[in-house]
This record gives sequence, C-alpha cells and structure tokens, in this order.
Amino acid sequence: MSENPKAPGSPDAPESPEKGGVGRRDFLNEISFGALAVAGLGSGVVSYQYMSPNVLFEPPTKFRAGSPDLYPVDSVTYLQDQLVYIMRSAAGFWAVSAVCTHLGCITAWHPETNLIQCPCHGSKFKQDGVKVAGPAPRPLPHFSITLSPDGELVVDKLETVQPSQVLKV
Ligand code: FES
Repeated sequence: MSENPKAPGSPDAPESPEKGGVGRRDFLNEISFGALAVAGLGSGVVSYQYMSPNVLFEPPTKFRAGSPDLYPVDSVTYLQDQLVYIMRSAAGFWAVSAVCTHLGCITAWHPETNLIQCPCHGSKFKQDGVKVAGPAPRPLPHFSITLSPDGELVVDKLETVQPSQVLKV
C-alpha cells in the first residue's frame, strides 16, 4: 500500500482558500511583497536624503545695524542676535565681537567697570577689545563697519579690521 502524497496536511497537499483561510503560497507571497515594499520605501528615503543638498542655514555674516543716530556718542550697544558690540565715541564707530577668544563664551558689557567681561573664566576686555585680564589669548576682533549708500551702518563679520580703524560719520 503506497502513501497518498495529496493527503491533507502533507507538503504537496493542494491549498484550499475556498475554505475561508489563506493558502500557504498566498501567505508567503503577501509576506514577500510586504518585505519588498518596506525595503523599497527604505531605499527611497535613503536615496532622497542622498540626493537632497546638505544646506546649513546660518544668519548672514553681513548685516545692517540701522542709522548712526540710533547710537549716542560714548555708547556701547550689544546686538544680541549678531553677537556684536557697536561702539561709538567722539572719534567714530567700531564693531567688536562679543565672542570670547578663550573658549567662545559670550561676553557681557559691564558699564560699572567700563569693561567687557566673560562669565566663563573671567577674561576682561576694554571697549577697544584689548584684553586686560583672564586667560583669553587674543583681543576681541574688530569687524568691518561701513555706511551704506542710504546712510545705515553695515557690519561685515567676515572682514576683520585693525582696531585703529574707526568709521567717522
Ligand atoms: S571662555 Fe572667556 S575666559 Fe574662557
């Protein structure tokens, strides 16, 4: 007596989806299509990220600081969004970085001492950026400050200038 290869439960038994269940072949097909769809979606996302440009949005380094009349003579104005001090004396205007040259902390103007002070390790600078105390290795850099054709101050943080260079208005 030979074994019936088509007996229910045997590997070669015919599928019977008409009974209301999902056949093994259909089930494996659905799993395969699902896996392919997930793999395709993943590779699509990776491809899109690879093809899209890596753009770093930073504030512009050149900015308008308004009319000179906004700054009284013998004043120090901190522009927080630009991390720059606009100084004005009888001699003219100059712009000084507010970023400490030691480890990059943001300094603060202290009118009671007439000094720019770093809160991190105690460096102190005069209005012209010269260091008077602390571990900062260099003075605060001066940025280019010019007058636009329509009469506004323009500071360029990419262009450093000599401290002696002031804008006479
Ligand atoms: S970061 Fe300013 S003194 Fe260290």
